[in-house]
Amino acid sequence: MVFNSILETIGKTPLVRLNKIVEHIPATVYAKIEGFNPGLSAKDRIALHMIEHAERTGQLQPGGTVVDATSGNTGFSLAMVCAIKGYKCVLTVTSKISEDKLNNLRAMGAEVVLCPKDAKPNDPESYYRKAESLAKEIPGAYYINQNYNMDNSAAHYLSTGPEIWEQTQGKISYLIGSASTGGTLCGTGRYIKEQKPHVNIIATDAYGSVLKKYHETGVYDPNEIYSYQMEGVGKNIIPGNFNFDLINEFVKVTDKDSALKSRELALSDGILAGYSSGATLQCLEQIKDRLTPEDVVVLIFASHGTKYVTKIFSDKWMQQQGFIQEPEMALSGE
Ligand SMILES: Cc1ncc(COP(=O)(O)O)c(C=O)c1O
Repeated sequence: MVFNSILETIGKTPLVRLNKIVEHIPATVYAKIEGFNPGLSAKDRIALHMIEHAERTGQLQPGGTVVDATSGNTGFSLAMVCAIKGYKCVLTVTSKISEDKLNNLRAMGAEVVLCPKDAKPNDPESYYRKAESLAKEIPGAYYINQNYNMDNSAAHYLSTGPEIWEQTQGKISYLIGSASTGGTLCGTGRYIKEQKPHVNIIATDAYGSVLKKYHETGVYDPNEIYSYQMEGVGKNIIPGNFNFDLINEFVKVTDKDSALKSRELALSDGILAGYSSGATLQCLEQIKDRLTPEDVVVLIFASHGTKYVTKIFSDKWMQQQGFIQEPEMALSGE
């Protein structure tokens, strides 16, 4: 197969059955492996869709600048699309970004602005506010605003949803993904629920995120917020891309359990996936007792594990976090 540019290789990612890691789970479990996208994450889909929509509506003109606040994956995908289309790309990120992600963004030509990871959302130094102010200052800038830009979830409604529906031949009964902007789960979930309203959509959330409590009580509680290690799981704001009515349940998982699951996945099923993918596996672990052999579960593995080699796949980092202590649990010792 021949493609005219790398952008044509976005999407149509494989759905792969999980085996050893789900041996004890009474259901058929598949993973939608978004690490197969050229930018190694699901964010390629939204980056292309949001930029092309801004071009069509005249909000982004030739030679313009794309600005966004991103934990890394969306930034890389935006930078990739900008490189091909000839736009400048300015990204604000939090200081919890992994060093490899930072280098990847710079390799793709993005200008990266580091912001403190503990800044509250309304703090002018937070990565959201910084992106907003840069978009106002830079002439010809277009603020992508992935949390509130509805082309984020639309991209998944138009691509990830139909792909999973076809790949499972409509047999899907549970969709589990990690939720941050909500775009992946709400876009994909909306398409799937339109075909089959009783499919359960389960959002994986982090301790330190406001999402689960907001879903259950309607209350945005700043007391829920504290800093944690996972990227792409949970939020300290309520993004506009969330349609909370679509989601049946939010399940919180810990940094440690999710990191250990990502490592176990590589060893058991040979899939090197990102931190949030381990989080969805841990989420599955926590809901497994309600599953039956008739259930067909799809986990969205949002990113490739190579993006986290200095974090969850580093024994040193895992030991520093207190996630592994015993030498026999370390990867190098296996
Ligand atoms: C690695 C990773 N997993 C999952 C997500 C969550 O996807 P979404 O923002 O569409 O909810 C993101 C995005 O923030 C991510 O970068």
